Amino acid sequence: MSGISSPSRFFLAVWLETVRRQKPAEKVGSSGVGSGQRRLPQPADAAGPQPRKTFQRRHWQNFVKGDLQYGAHDEERMTIKATEPDTSAVVDTSPAQGLSTQSVHAGEHRQKHGDAITDAIFCSSTYTFPDTQSVIDFIEHKLPREEYGRYGNPGEKFVEAKLAALEGGESAVLFASGMAAIVGLLMAKLNAGDEVVFFDECYHRSREFCVKHLARFGVVTRQVPACDYDAMQAAITPQTRLLISESPTNPHLSIVDLKRFVQIGRDQGVETLIDATLATPVNLRPIEAGVDYVLHSATKYLGGHNDLLAGTIIGRADRLEPVRNLRGIMGAVNSPHNVYLLTRGLKTLELRMRRHNENGLAVAEFLEGHSRVERVYYPGLPSHPYHEVARRTMLGYGGLVTFLVKDADWQQTAAVVDAVKIPRIGPSLGGVESLIEQPLVMSYYECTPEERERFGIPDNMIRLACGIENTKDLIDDLAQALEQ
Ligand SMILES: Cc1ncc(COP(=O)(O)O)c(C=O)c1O
Repeated sequence: MSGISSPSRFFLAVWLETVRRQKPAEKVGSSGVGSGQRRLPQPADAAGPQPRKTFQRRHWQNFVKGDLQYGAHDEERMTIKATEPDTSAVVDTSPAQGLSTQSVHAGEHRQKHGDAITDAIFCSSTYTFPDTQSVIDFIEHKLPREEYGRYGNPGEKFVEAKLAALEGGESAVLFASGMAAIVGLLMAKLNAGDEVVFFDECYHRSREFCVKHLARFGVVTRQVPACDYDAMQAAITPQTRLLISESPTNPHLSIVDLKRFVQIGRDQGVETLIDATLATPVNLRPIEAGVDYVLHSATKYLGGHNDLLAGTIIGRADRLEPVRNLRGIMGAVNSPHNVYLLTRGLKTLELRMRRHNENGLAVAEFLEGHSRVERVYYPGLPSHPYHEVARRTMLGYGGLVTFLVKDADWQQTAAVVDAVKIPRIGPSLGGVESLIEQPLVMSYYECTPEERERFGIPDNMIRLACGIENTKDLIDDLAQALEQ
């Protein structure tokens, strides 16, 4: 109490005395503030809730007389109740419920610490045990609980449950970034002499990790052209352990026929991984199609606000156990604050995705009709080579639109990027703010012209990640930028 200022002490004293003097019956269901206790109207109580009385004056007099003490009773009332969440009381969401219901409630306890509606953020690097027997019980797996921050924190468990529910998978492992998730999965699953096959349109750092780094550990990577199922089949050897693809791919937005992809894996006894970052569980359901592992850079749409880095892998719990164990050794974990941001971002995922989808389609249609645009890559457009697959398998086409500026060299293309006023120039996608970039001068700057040609990155390519701004504003902005 010594650190409390005089006015605060006064109001606290008034409140405490009010509580102390209430008759037991008055305390039930009442916040205890004021003499007009918020008593519910009784059937015969036509007058309804009682008006406030003169308690403040009375307690001011008491206070002045100095007859208020901060006794043990009052201290106890001021303590925030550290309710141990009852794990049996986790909100019961079901796959039959809508995605927003799941994203708001799945994995959460109905009654939380401090009786708050939001999850607490436990800024704790370690977790303590009341006695030695508890340590032994924990180590013998008789007592589920936290031990040390690198092995998990309470918020991480809740958000993993939410991610698994959203994706329709059994279990999710959360990592510190999308790349940490990819690296974690591959390092946990592969041994020297194993091989992976992947469709070559992909995030360049994923390719770099496989080609440059897995090779150092004796793992062979075979790249085949995106959506060339015969080539994928032909690249499989008895050593192949994993087939990998993104869908949609980045930045060409090719769409994998998941059933064909899964079938190849099943026929050959090889596991499958889809990086569905650009789709989210709102637009694509890889687990329902039989994919073994779904990966997301949660930095993008799942977090949704350009304010965090995270990644996740979702799949069968037993298959993910080695991945979870390796994460505890790698230490590629999220801080409790980051976990909270992700939990919060996820709650609006479906709402945000609707707007990203609307903006993506409208912008793509606008660009396709514009005289200064040579080509648009967007799976929602009938002109896209994988539109039919997308129409059959996707529930929306996302906010990413890639286009080529007609008859433009790299500087004329850069002039369009520089002329837009709403999207900011930067890498990434999936946040509420639109982002624009010219791949030549962003992710592919260090590639040789030959490499860029091989990866399909011409100098006049622009990648626009539509945020959730109003559609008309984005289109008006692009119109003025293309007319400069
Ligand atoms: C499709 C895809 N997967 C994975 C990643 C890596 O995710 P992060 O940046 O969260 O490490 C990215 C990043 O841009 C991506 O676009």
